[in-house]
Amino acid sequence: MKKIGILTSGGDAPGMNAAIRAAVRCGICAGMEVVGIERGYAGLLEGRFIPMGLRSVSDIIQRGGTILRTARCLEFLTPEGQQQGFDNLKKEGIEGLIVIGGDGSFRGAKVLSEKGFPTIGVPGTIDNDLAYTDFTLGFDTATNTILESIDKIRDTMSSHERISIIEVMGRHCGDLALYAGIGGGAEVIIVPEMKLTNEEIVQKLMDFRASGKRSGIVVLAEGAGKADDLAKMLTEKTNLDIRASVLGHIQRGGSPTHQDRYLGTCFGARAVQLLEKGIGNRIIGIKDNEVFDIDIHEGLSIPRKFRTDLYELAGIVAR
Ligand code: F6P
Repeated sequence: MKKIGILTSGGDAPGMNAAIRAAVRCGICAGMEVVGIERGYAGLLEGRFIPMGLRSVSDIIQRGGTILRTARCLEFLTPEGQQQGFDNLKKEGIEGLIVIGGDGSFRGAKVLSEKGFPTIGVPGTIDNDLAYTDFTLGFDTATNTILESIDKIRDTMSSHERISIIEVMGRHCGDLALYAGIGGGAEVIIVPEMKLTNEEIVQKLMDFRASGKRSGIVVLAEGAGKADDLAKMLTEKTNLDIRASVLGHIQRGGSPTHQDRYLGTCFGARAVQLLEKGIGNRIIGIKDNEVFDIDIHEGLSIPRKFRTDLYELAGIVAR
Protein backbone atom coordinates (compact mmCIF):
# COMPACT_ATOMS: atom_id res chain seq x y z
CA MET A 1 0.00 0.00 0.00
CA LYS A 2 1.17 3.49 -0.81
CA LYS A 3 -1.38 5.55 1.08
CA ILE A 4 -3.25 4.77 4.29
CA GLY A 5 -5.80 6.67 6.35
CA ILE A 6 -6.36 6.86 10.10
CA LEU A 7 -9.34 8.04 12.12
CA THR A 8 -10.57 8.04 15.71
CA SER A 9 -14.25 7.46 16.37
CA GLY A 10 -16.77 7.25 19.23
CA GLY A 11 -15.85 8.30 22.77
CA ASP A 12 -12.25 9.49 22.99
CA ALA A 13 -9.82 7.55 25.16
CA PRO A 14 -6.39 8.38 26.59
CA GLY A 15 -3.79 6.56 24.50
CA MET A 16 -5.44 7.30 21.16
CA ASN A 17 -2.75 9.90 20.45
CA ALA A 18 -0.01 7.37 21.13
CA ALA A 19 -1.63 5.06 18.57
CA ILE A 20 -1.92 7.88 15.99
CA ARG A 21 1.71 8.85 16.55
CA ALA A 22 2.94 5.26 16.12
CA ALA A 23 0.80 4.64 13.04
CA VAL A 24 1.95 7.87 11.35
CA ARG A 25 5.63 7.35 12.06
CA CYS A 26 5.64 3.60 11.30
CA GLY A 27 3.69 4.26 8.10
CA ILE A 28 6.11 6.94 6.93
CA CYS A 29 9.07 4.76 7.91
CA ALA A 30 7.61 2.01 5.68
CA GLY A 31 7.43 4.47 2.75
CA MET A 32 3.69 5.11 2.89
CA GLU A 33 1.75 8.34 2.81
CA VAL A 34 -0.43 8.71 5.91
CA VAL A 35 -3.64 10.73 5.85
CA GLY A 36 -5.47 11.75 9.03
CA ILE A 37 -9.26 11.86 8.82
CA GLU A 38 -10.69 14.40 11.27
CA ARG A 39 -13.88 13.85 13.30
CA GLY A 40 -14.14 10.09 12.71
CA TYR A 41 -16.67 8.74 10.23
CA ALA A 42 -18.36 12.15 10.14
CA GLY A 43 -15.11 13.62 8.77
CA LEU A 44 -14.83 10.74 6.31
CA LEU A 45 -18.22 11.73 4.90
CA GLU A 46 -17.28 15.43 4.89
CA GLY A 47 -13.94 14.71 3.18
CA ARG A 48 -11.81 16.07 6.04
CA PHE A 49 -8.50 14.55 4.98
CA ILE A 50 -5.22 16.00 6.24
CA PRO A 51 -1.71 14.86 5.33
CA MET A 52 0.25 13.67 8.36
CA GLY A 53 4.01 14.18 8.64
CA LEU A 54 6.54 13.11 11.24
CA ARG A 55 6.24 16.49 12.98
CA SER A 56 2.45 16.55 12.95
CA VAL A 57 2.48 13.96 15.73
CA SER A 58 5.19 15.59 17.86
CA ASP A 59 4.39 16.34 21.49
CA ILE A 60 1.19 14.29 21.60
CA ILE A 61 2.08 10.97 23.27
CA GLN A 62 1.41 12.47 26.71
CA ARG A 63 -1.86 14.13 25.75
CA GLY A 64 -5.34 12.73 26.46
CA GLY A 65 -8.14 12.99 23.88
CA THR A 66 -7.39 12.66 20.18
CA ILE A 67 -5.68 15.24 17.97
CA LEU A 68 -7.80 13.99 15.05
CA ARG A 69 -10.95 14.74 17.08
CA THR A 70 -13.85 12.32 17.13
CA ALA A 71 -17.60 12.05 16.65
CA ARG A 72 -20.47 9.66 17.00
CA CYS A 73 -21.78 9.57 13.43
CA LEU A 74 -25.35 8.36 12.91
CA GLU A 75 -25.14 8.84 9.14
CA PHE A 76 -22.45 6.19 8.88
CA LEU A 77 -24.93 3.67 10.26
CA THR A 78 -26.97 3.95 7.05
CA PRO A 79 -26.10 2.02 3.83
CA GLU A 80 -25.94 5.35 1.93
CA GLY A 81 -23.51 6.83 4.46
CA GLN A 82 -21.35 3.72 4.36
CA GLN A 83 -21.20 3.80 0.54
CA GLN A 84 -20.31 7.51 0.64
CA GLY A 85 -17.49 6.78 3.09
CA PHE A 86 -16.16 3.98 0.88
CA ASP A 87 -16.31 6.23 -2.21
CA ASN A 88 -14.53 9.09 -0.43
CA LEU A 89 -11.67 6.81 0.60
CA LYS A 90 -11.29 5.56 -2.98
CA LYS A 91 -11.46 9.09 -4.41
CA GLU A 92 -8.70 10.18 -2.05
CA GLY A 93 -6.50 7.29 -3.26
CA ILE A 94 -6.42 5.73 0.22
CA GLU A 95 -5.81 1.98 0.08
CA GLY A 96 -6.14 0.94 3.72
CA LEU A 97 -7.72 2.41 6.85
CA ILE A 98 -6.97 2.29 10.58
CA VAL A 99 -9.98 2.88 12.82
CA ILE A 100 -9.29 3.61 16.50
CA GLY A 101 -12.43 3.28 18.59
CA GLY A 102 -14.82 0.99 20.42
CA ASP A 103 -17.56 -1.42 19.55
CA GLY A 104 -19.66 0.98 17.41
CA SER A 105 -16.60 2.18 15.50
CA PHE A 106 -15.57 -1.41 14.81
CA ARG A 107 -19.02 -2.17 13.37
CA GLY A 108 -18.31 0.63 10.86
CA ALA A 109 -14.88 -0.89 10.16
CA LYS A 110 -16.56 -4.26 9.58
CA VAL A 111 -18.88 -2.75 6.99
CA LEU A 112 -15.96 -1.18 5.10
CA SER A 113 -14.15 -4.53 5.23
CA GLU A 114 -17.21 -6.28 3.83
CA LYS A 115 -17.23 -3.79 0.97
CA GLY A 116 -13.67 -4.88 0.22
CA PHE A 117 -11.85 -1.96 1.81
CA PRO A 118 -8.90 -3.21 3.94
CA THR A 119 -9.55 -1.89 7.43
CA ILE A 120 -7.78 -2.49 10.73
CA GLY A 121 -9.38 -1.78 14.12
CA VAL A 122 -7.42 -0.55 17.14
CA PRO A 123 -9.45 -0.87 20.38
CA GLY A 124 -9.79 2.55 21.98
CA THR A 125 -12.47 2.97 24.64
CA ILE A 126 -12.31 3.52 28.39
CA ASP A 127 -15.11 0.97 28.88
CA ASN A 128 -12.98 -2.15 28.18
CA ASP A 129 -16.05 -3.73 26.63
CA LEU A 130 -14.43 -5.57 23.71
CA ALA A 131 -14.34 -9.26 24.61
CA TYR A 132 -11.56 -10.38 22.27
CA THR A 133 -8.89 -8.27 23.99
CA ASP A 134 -7.81 -8.22 27.64
CA PHE A 135 -7.56 -4.42 27.60
CA THR A 136 -8.59 -1.47 25.43
CA LEU A 137 -6.77 1.86 25.14
CA GLY A 138 -7.85 4.30 27.82
CA PHE A 139 -9.14 1.77 30.32
CA ASP A 140 -6.05 1.90 32.51
CA THR A 141 -5.95 5.71 32.60
CA ALA A 142 -9.66 5.98 33.35
CA THR A 143 -9.36 3.36 36.11
CA ASN A 144 -6.55 5.35 37.70
CA THR A 145 -8.56 8.57 37.43
CA ILE A 146 -11.46 6.87 39.23
CA LEU A 147 -9.06 5.52 41.87
CA GLU A 148 -7.78 9.01 42.65
CA SER A 149 -11.37 10.18 43.13
CA ILE A 150 -12.22 7.20 45.35
CA ASP A 151 -9.19 7.93 47.54
CA LYS A 152 -10.17 11.58 47.90
CA ILE A 153 -13.82 10.85 48.58
CA ARG A 154 -12.85 8.19 51.12
CA ASP A 155 -10.91 10.76 53.17
CA THR A 156 -14.00 12.86 53.70
CA MET A 157 -16.38 9.90 54.04
CA SER A 158 -14.29 8.41 56.81
CA SER A 159 -13.99 11.78 58.61
CA HIS A 160 -17.78 12.19 58.61
CA GLU A 161 -18.67 8.50 58.97
CA ARG A 162 -20.62 8.55 55.71
CA ILE A 163 -21.25 6.24 52.78
CA SER A 164 -20.50 7.53 49.28
CA ILE A 165 -22.07 6.22 46.11
CA ILE A 166 -19.63 6.91 43.27
CA GLU A 167 -21.14 6.56 39.79
CA VAL A 168 -18.64 5.70 37.08
CA MET A 169 -18.92 5.19 33.31
CA GLY A 170 -19.75 1.87 31.69
CA ARG A 171 -23.12 1.54 30.00
CA HIS A 172 -23.08 -2.21 29.45
CA CYS A 173 -19.79 -3.16 30.99
CA GLY A 174 -18.85 -3.02 34.67
CA ASP A 175 -15.07 -3.29 34.24
CA LEU A 176 -14.31 0.32 35.23
CA ALA A 177 -16.36 -0.13 38.41
CA LEU A 178 -14.87 -3.55 39.10
CA TYR A 179 -11.19 -2.73 38.61
CA ALA A 180 -11.34 0.71 40.25
CA GLY A 181 -13.47 -0.79 43.03
CA ILE A 182 -10.85 -3.46 43.71
CA GLY A 183 -8.00 -0.95 43.72
CA GLY A 184 -9.94 1.54 45.86
CA GLY A 185 -11.14 -1.07 48.36
CA ALA A 186 -14.82 -0.39 47.63
CA GLU A 187 -17.19 -1.95 50.14
CA VAL A 188 -19.80 -2.62 47.43
CA ILE A 189 -19.45 -2.76 43.63
CA ILE A 190 -22.60 -2.62 41.50
CA VAL A 191 -22.32 -3.54 37.83
CA PRO A 192 -24.79 -4.34 35.02
CA GLU A 193 -23.49 -7.91 34.79
CA MET A 194 -24.30 -8.75 38.44
CA LYS A 195 -27.39 -6.75 39.30
CA LEU A 196 -28.17 -6.50 43.02
CA THR A 197 -31.65 -5.89 44.44
CA ASN A 198 -32.24 -2.90 46.73
CA GLU A 199 -32.64 -5.32 49.62
CA GLU A 200 -29.26 -6.91 48.88
CA ILE A 201 -27.53 -3.54 48.76
CA VAL A 202 -29.14 -2.46 52.03
CA GLN A 203 -28.14 -5.78 53.62
CA LYS A 204 -24.53 -5.42 52.47
CA LEU A 205 -24.25 -1.96 54.00
CA MET A 206 -25.85 -3.07 57.26
CA ASP A 207 -23.43 -6.01 57.40
CA PHE A 208 -20.49 -3.67 56.96
CA ARG A 209 -21.80 -1.41 59.68
CA ALA A 210 -22.26 -4.40 61.98
CA SER A 211 -18.68 -5.50 61.28
CA GLY A 212 -17.39 -2.22 62.72
CA LYS A 213 -16.94 -0.14 59.57
CA ARG A 214 -18.19 3.41 60.08
CA SER A 215 -17.86 4.64 56.48
CA GLY A 216 -17.73 3.13 53.05
CA ILE A 217 -17.58 3.43 49.29
CA VAL A 218 -20.11 2.00 46.85
CA VAL A 219 -18.91 2.06 43.24
CA LEU A 220 -21.83 2.01 40.82
CA ALA A 221 -21.45 1.50 37.06
CA GLU A 222 -23.78 3.87 35.18
CA GLY A 223 -25.35 0.89 33.38
CA ALA A 224 -26.56 -0.48 36.73
CA GLY A 225 -28.32 2.64 37.99
CA LYS A 226 -28.06 6.30 38.97
CA ALA A 227 -26.09 7.39 42.03
CA ASP A 228 -28.75 9.92 43.10
CA ASP A 229 -31.57 7.34 42.94
CA LEU A 230 -29.52 4.83 44.90
CA ALA A 231 -28.57 7.43 47.53
CA LYS A 232 -32.24 8.37 47.92
CA MET A 233 -33.32 4.76 48.32
CA LEU A 234 -30.56 4.00 50.84
CA THR A 235 -31.31 7.15 52.83
CA GLU A 236 -34.95 6.06 53.09
CA LYS A 237 -34.21 2.44 53.98
CA THR A 238 -31.27 2.86 56.38
CA ASN A 239 -30.21 5.32 59.05
CA LEU A 240 -26.86 5.83 57.31
CA ASP A 241 -25.56 9.19 56.11
CA ILE A 242 -25.30 8.78 52.31
CA ARG A 243 -23.78 11.03 49.66
CA ALA A 244 -23.62 10.63 45.87
CA SER A 245 -20.96 11.67 43.35
CA VAL A 246 -21.12 11.27 39.59
CA LEU A 247 -17.61 11.35 38.13
CA GLY A 248 -18.71 11.95 34.52
CA HIS A 249 -16.35 12.99 31.75
CA ILE A 250 -13.38 13.57 34.05
CA GLN A 251 -12.92 9.81 33.53
CA ARG A 252 -12.30 10.21 29.80
CA GLY A 253 -9.64 12.93 29.98
CA GLY A 254 -6.11 13.27 31.25
CA SER A 255 -2.62 12.24 30.40
CA PRO A 256 -2.45 8.53 29.51
CA THR A 257 -0.74 6.13 31.90
CA HIS A 258 2.32 4.19 30.79
CA GLN A 259 0.12 1.18 29.94
CA ASP A 260 -2.04 3.24 27.57
CA ARG A 261 0.95 4.89 25.88
CA TYR A 262 2.61 1.49 25.50
CA LEU A 263 -0.51 -0.21 24.17
CA GLY A 264 -1.23 2.72 21.84
CA THR A 265 2.29 2.53 20.43
CA CYS A 266 2.23 -1.26 19.94
CA PHE A 267 -1.31 -1.28 18.51
CA GLY A 268 -0.58 1.55 16.05
CA ALA A 269 2.61 -0.13 14.89
CA ARG A 270 0.87 -3.50 14.43
CA ALA A 271 -1.92 -1.91 12.39
CA VAL A 272 0.63 -0.47 9.97
CA GLN A 273 2.55 -3.75 9.73
CA LEU A 274 -0.65 -5.50 8.64
CA LEU A 275 -1.60 -2.89 6.03
CA GLU A 276 1.98 -2.86 4.75
CA LYS A 277 1.58 -6.57 3.97
CA GLY A 278 -1.75 -5.85 2.28
CA ILE A 279 -3.67 -7.49 5.14
CA GLY A 280 -6.97 -5.90 6.21
CA ASN A 281 -10.12 -6.86 8.06
CA ARG A 282 -8.37 -7.51 11.37
CA ILE A 283 -8.68 -6.02 14.83
CA ILE A 284 -5.79 -5.73 17.24
CA GLY A 285 -5.70 -6.62 20.90
CA ILE A 286 -3.58 -7.80 23.80
CA LYS A 287 -3.95 -11.23 25.39
CA ASP A 288 -1.65 -12.55 28.13
CA ASN A 289 0.71 -9.63 27.45
CA GLU A 290 1.07 -10.41 23.75
CA VAL A 291 -0.16 -8.04 21.05
CA PHE A 292 -2.15 -10.02 18.48
CA ASP A 293 -4.67 -9.55 15.69
CA ILE A 294 -7.81 -11.45 14.86
CA ASP A 295 -10.34 -11.48 12.03
CA ILE A 296 -12.80 -8.62 12.53
CA HIS A 297 -15.93 -10.82 12.30
CA GLU A 298 -14.48 -13.46 14.58
CA GLY A 299 -13.23 -10.94 17.16
CA LEU A 300 -16.53 -9.08 17.33
CA SER A 301 -18.56 -12.26 17.75
CA ILE A 302 -16.72 -13.37 20.91
CA PRO A 303 -19.14 -12.99 23.83
CA ARG A 304 -17.97 -10.91 26.75
CA LYS A 305 -17.21 -12.77 29.96
CA PHE A 306 -17.47 -10.78 33.16
CA ARG A 307 -14.72 -11.57 35.68
CA THR A 308 -16.95 -13.03 38.38
CA ASP A 309 -13.83 -14.36 40.13
CA LEU A 310 -12.55 -10.79 40.57
CA TYR A 311 -15.99 -9.61 41.63
CA GLU A 312 -16.11 -12.27 44.35
CA LEU A 313 -12.56 -11.46 45.42
CA ALA A 314 -13.48 -7.78 45.71
CA GLY A 315 -16.29 -8.78 48.08
CA ILE A 316 -13.98 -10.88 50.24
CA VAL A 317 -11.15 -8.35 50.54
CA ALA A 318 -13.56 -5.52 51.40
CA ARG A 319 -14.79 -7.27 54.58
O1 F6P B 1 -18.24 4.62 25.33
C1 F6P B 1 -17.48 5.32 26.23
C2 F6P B 1 -18.32 6.17 27.14
O2 F6P B 1 -17.39 6.90 27.88
C3 F6P B 1 -19.30 5.44 28.05
O3 F6P B 1 -18.73 4.87 29.19
C4 F6P B 1 -20.28 6.54 28.37
O4 F6P B 1 -21.52 6.03 28.73
C5 F6P B 1 -20.36 7.29 27.09
O5 F6P B 1 -19.13 7.09 26.43
C6 F6P B 1 -20.63 8.76 27.21
O6 F6P B 1 -20.73 9.28 25.94
P1 F6P B 1 -20.84 10.83 25.59
O7 F6P B 1 -19.53 11.45 25.92
O8 F6P B 1 -21.13 10.86 24.14
O9 F6P B 1 -21.92 11.37 26.46
